[in-house]
Amino acid sequence: MLDASTRQQVKATAPILKQHGVLLTSHFYQRMFQHNPELKNIFNQGHQHAGQQQQALAMAVAAYAEHIDAPEVLLPVLERVAHKHTSLGIRAEHYPIVGKHLLASIREVLGEEAAPDSLLDAWGAAYQQLAELLINLENSLYQRAATQAGGWSGWRPFRVVNKQVESAEITSFYLQPADGGALPDFQPGQYVSVQRYIPEWGLCQPRQYSLSDAPGKGWLRISVKREEAQGDAPAGKVSGQLHAALAEGDILQVSPPFGDFVLHQDRATPVVLISAGVGQTPLLSMLRHLLESGSQRPIRYLHAARHGQVHAMKQEVGQLAAQHPVLASTVFYECPQDTDQLGQDYQRAGRIDAEAIREHALLADADYYLCGPQAFMQQQRSQLRASGVAATRIHMEVFGSNAMASD
Ligand SMILES: Cc1cc2nc3c(=O)[nH]c(=O)nc-3n(C[C@H](O)[C@H](O)[C@H](O)COP(=O)(O)OP(=O)(O)OC[C@H]3O[C@@H](n4cnc5c(N)ncnc54)[C@H](O)[C@@H]3O)c2cc1C
Ligand code: HEM
Repeated sequence: MLDASTRQQVKATAPILKQHGVLLTSHFYQRMFQHNPELKNIFNQGHQHAGQQQQALAMAVAAYAEHIDAPEVLLPVLERVAHKHTSLGIRAEHYPIVGKHLLASIREVLGEEAAPDSLLDAWGAAYQQLAELLINLENSLYQRAATQAGGWSGWRPFRVVNKQVESAEITSFYLQPADGGALPDFQPGQYVSVQRYIPEWGLCQPRQYSLSDAPGKGWLRISVKREEAQGDAPAGKVSGQLHAALAEGDILQVSPPFGDFVLHQDRATPVVLISAGVGQTPLLSMLRHLLESGSQRPIRYLHAARHGQVHAMKQEVGQLAAQHPVLASTVFYECPQDTDQLGQDYQRAGRIDAEAIREHALLADADYYLCGPQAFMQQQRSQLRASGVAATRIHMEVFGSNAMASD
């Protein structure tokens, strides 16, 4: 436990961090990559350009400063960070590197007057406490991932045994361990990291992909959206390479499954799965698992796509709905095309709005799992809350760098 004066100093700097947080962490990343360029192979350089990482770290540090008297309230957030860290292979030995550059950045950005040695000492002690919390959480996640049947640690080579085009933008890859070994049981909703070498950058790059099939199949399936160039933003590096260059028979480096956005399997209550675009991947895993394990929990599946060309897994979900009366599926097309047939390809034109939520999604005592763009999830969350759904029943997965999204 930190002493009272250290806690006081750290807490007093929380407003400064909020004010300068992004500047501070941008400086920090620049400094760290200059001194430790090997870490560029661990950090998502796409997120660096988009500024997401800077914001995520700044918000985490500011939140920690605010809650320094009772850091355990941050445990759910830290657990989410720990899952992301373990999927990326972050180890205890990385923490002193980050700590050194973070402290140096505080001095360099704020100056000696605003950040005297006493303040840096207080922050050094606080960082150490936060690091220990994360290292402990991560050690137990690593331990579980490596020791369970079929488990492993670090990158494991997988062979692509099937590559399946799902829509104009999304392609699935079925992966089996190249060593012929077993696979662990993962929890529906979890993701893996994959690692690819990007020749233009001369770097390896990790990316996370949710597992889109149920556990226990003898393969892991990921379903990847090809990120097209848009305006000034270039095309996605890893997704583009997976689509263009990863063929059946090729090898992909894969981390063990991690992630805390998981189906609550300890309940018999209804399940409502609401997704947009490629956000349906973790929800499909939940859906398949529920149906294949014979669960009688009522399920609502609401999915939003722009139109039929980009509507992935249409047949898969359609077949499941035809076979399983517990499942009611409703597909929304925002801008249906002439070839899209109402009642067959989709059930509703337009977005998932408040009326659609009232009509198709509300079930007593249900859990709601949301995945899609952040604005989409925030809108669905507000609509659910306005309809009386408790915040604790709404669970969200962010396909980006943002540990502070409320659950
Ligand atoms: C938990 C989790 C689960 C996920 N599950 C899935 C999934 O199931 N399926 C899926 O398809 N994706 C999923 N993702 C997203 C995935 O990890 C990748 O982020 C996605 O594939 C894009 O990676 P990329 O390398 O193709 O794009 P990147 O090269 O990383 O680019 C990402 C974005 O940043 C922009 N950008 C890059 N450089 C610049 C620049 N210089 N200036 C401005 N903008 C720039 C790009 O235009 C692009 O929009 C998931 C993410 C997380 C965190
Ligand atoms: C106390 C120290 C740390 C804190 C508070 C922290 C906080 C965070 C947060 C909030 C995220 C975003 C999580 C998410 O996307 O859901 C994150 C992601 C990440 N962290 Fe840390 N972290 C710490 C230490 C480290 C260390 C030591 C490393 C390795 C050198 C590291 C590497 C990463 C990477 C690579 C990501 C993923 C970011 C991306 O590529 O999008 N972190 N961390």
